[in-house]
Amino acid sequence: MPLPKAELHLHIEGTLEPELAFELAARNGVELPYATTDALREAYRFEDLQSFLNLYYELMAVLRTERDFEDLANAYLARAAAQGVRHAEIFFDPQAHIARGVGMGTVVEGLSRALDRSEENHGVSTHLILCFLRDESAESALATLDAAKPYLDRIIGVGLDSAEVGHPPVKFREVYETAAALGLRRVAHAGEEGPPEYITEALDILGVERVDHGLRCMESPDLVARLARDRVPLTLCPLSNVRLRTVDTLADHPLPAMLEAGLLCTVNSDDPAYFGGYADDNFTAVREALGLSEERLRELARNSFLASFLDDDEEKRAG
Ligand code: HPA
Ligand code: ZN
Repeated sequence: MPLPKAELHLHIEGTLEPELAFELAARNGVELPYATTDALREAYRFEDLQSFLNLYYELMAVLRTERDFEDLANAYLARAAAQGVRHAEIFFDPQAHIARGVGMGTVVEGLSRALDRSEENHGVSTHLILCFLRDESAESALATLDAAKPYLDRIIGVGLDSAEVGHPPVKFREVYETAAALGLRRVAHAGEEGPPEYITEALDILGVERVDHGLRCMESPDLVARLARDRVPLTLCPLSNVRLRTVDTLADHPLPAMLEAGLLCTVNSDDPAYFGGYADDNFTAVREALGLSEERLRELARNSFLASFLDDDEEKRAG
């Protein structure tokens, strides 16, 4: 039995498996530049974050209707439940859909159809986190937040994703101030490919409560000490790091050193359809490659609930 866990770093668009991509393409009359699911899978060899993002955005063309987003989320929730996930805080990228003429309402209403019935259907509680694309402008992010206003009862917080280097957190200062004023929780990707300074900025300027990835904090002993002292959760994604070549091999992953340093680490799947594994596949992979003890694995699972946006009572029920 997989350990009960919460998943805190999961892009719903990154759960689009090749089979569902082809099914939705046929349903919507969208032509994919791949002949078969195998040919598509062949394209899953990434050099870095950008080479992945190119395919990730390209395949989104098949997501057009509320039902598509509902089917996507249901497929993820079924897989997550089978991997011991009891609670999922799910990222979505509205700008990538709005740019294709698919409105905020279609995305949020479609996802909500699956999420609203997730506890009943899958035994998984959920929250939704709206992510801004950091390689788009701050004005675009503000307009996106504005477009989300009718749906804020469904959205617990905001995040920041897409191409990191050259797009420091400070670019989104005003957007995050506005989000905070709206009562939204705040997280951001930082220190995946970007330098440790981006992590510090995310904390000091954006006021984030969790750091997504945060891997490169290990280059700054002062930052590690701060993150450990303040118990700032990091949402690590080991299989993603290998596929995007942030680490050479899983055996080189700094997770054991991060735990030794007292960091509040969690293990997550990021974009599981692209990176070769869902939540428990990541747990199994680090256990095997890094020789983590059962006690360490239980600590990681416990951390996932501690670092979640569940309140204490909900946490106990889920974990
Ligand atoms: N990093 C940044 N942006 C992303 C990712 C990621 O791993 N996945 C989807 N968007
Ligand atoms: Zn991510």
